[in-house]
Amino acid sequence: MNILIIGNGGREHTFAWKIKQSNLCENLFVAPGNAGTTGTAQNIPIAIDDFEKLGQFCIDRKIGLVVVGPEAPLVNGIRDFFENRPQLKTIPLLGPGKAGAKLEGSKDFSKQFMLRHSIPTAKAKTFQVNEISQAIEYLDACTPPLVLKADGLAAGKGVIITESKEEAKQAITEMLVEKKFGAASTKVLVEEFLSGIELSVFVLTDGKDYIILPEAKDYKRIGEGDTGPNTGGMGAVSPVVFATADFMKKVEERVVKPTISGLQKEGIDYRGFIFIGLMNCQGNPYVIEYNARMGDPETQVVLPRIKSDIIPVLLAAAQGELKGKAIEVADETAVTVVMVSGGYPGNFEKGKVINGLTSPTEALVFQAGTKESGGRVTTDGGRVLAITGMEAGLADAREKAYHGVAKLTWEGLYFRKDIGQDLLNFQSDASAKF
Ligand code: AMP
Ligand code: GLY
Repeated sequence: MNILIIGNGGREHTFAWKIKQSNLCENLFVAPGNAGTTGTAQNIPIAIDDFEKLGQFCIDRKIGLVVVGPEAPLVNGIRDFFENRPQLKTIPLLGPGKAGAKLEGSKDFSKQFMLRHSIPTAKAKTFQVNEISQAIEYLDACTPPLVLKADGLAAGKGVIITESKEEAKQAITEMLVEKKFGAASTKVLVEEFLSGIELSVFVLTDGKDYIILPEAKDYKRIGEGDTGPNTGGMGAVSPVVFATADFMKKVEERVVKPTISGLQKEGIDYRGFIFIGLMNCQGNPYVIEYNARMGDPETQVVLPRIKSDIIPVLLAAAQGELKGKAIEVADETAVTVVMVSGGYPGNFEKGKVINGLTSPTEALVFQAGTKESGGRVTTDGGRVLAITGMEAGLADAREKAYHGVAKLTWEGLYFRKDIGQDLLNFQSDASAKF
């Protein structure tokens, strides 16, 4: 089978690496890909939002499965585009349509969806620009910390958490009145602050049946000890020690099942991944957000732990035939460390030559913001590489990942040295304290 992956990050390199291991894969393409995916697949210079060209490519190259990595093409309707064209509608595409991707594309929609289906989540109230005075009054009556969320996609910057009412009032004015995030902040949610410890659970579904994939914890802040601004993700660990069997059972019963049945009741034919951002509050799961795709860098620890051939389940989910399908998951722990350009998530320079990519390492090296120029691989984004170590225990997995990191250098690089460290001595009953 010929397969097309859409995207150019570490997540897509990891999908390419995993898919390529299957005997079912004949030709593998990534559009547009990065310097890492050229080693595994063939890069196709088509932008992720050029649905016409992507569709034509699928016809020309007899693509049997399309895997959509990032949220933007999903929110913009790539599935709907394929379904509405006779020559494309029979090509299995993994990823929800516009209606399903709204779970990620609109925080107001996803909040109302959770409330309609009794899925545990923080209480929230939504305001629009004509309600600015009510919003300010409402904030005045709240007890900090205060959580403000822009309704639409805001490149990971749309959530503001503050201890100060004044700051919150100023922020909501900037969002609603001054349109700080453009159309994404036409609506703003004021949400109850949840205190707990976060983790992410991933579900592969065909809209009727589902497989729960390995869970992961990611490290969003740029600085060690979870300090400084938010990033796309500086590292991830799977499994997560506080995601006990008991906790995961609650996640399945209280969150996963009502999410899938809610989609069905609303007539949303959801085929793809649901990434559920959860807060573990004293042993109970609360949904912080849904994403309509896999996480990055969570994919870099989730896929290495899946022992089974991935193609049959991806294809079955895209075709609506997931019933009875399962995957085998390795007991080992995977740790990924993201190496970024100096200055990220603020301004950074690109085009630095990366050294050490050919050095032998037992770690898995997944590339993200990289490009090939003049036979050399150079940096081409904020997050540049994700280095994954997998071993029986967390300490050894960390060591393997950091051993891999040590072989790679470029001018100005930065990475966190504490990925997974908080989980090393985590007592199994410690989640009770959150
Ligand atoms: P989101 O974009 O919705 O994932 O939010 C970004 C981050 O803000 C989350 O990963 C949490 O760390 C934090 N966050 C979001 N909502 C809440 C909440 N209601 N209470 C506490 N923290 C939150
Ligand atoms: N690492 C978080 C995300 O992919 O959204």
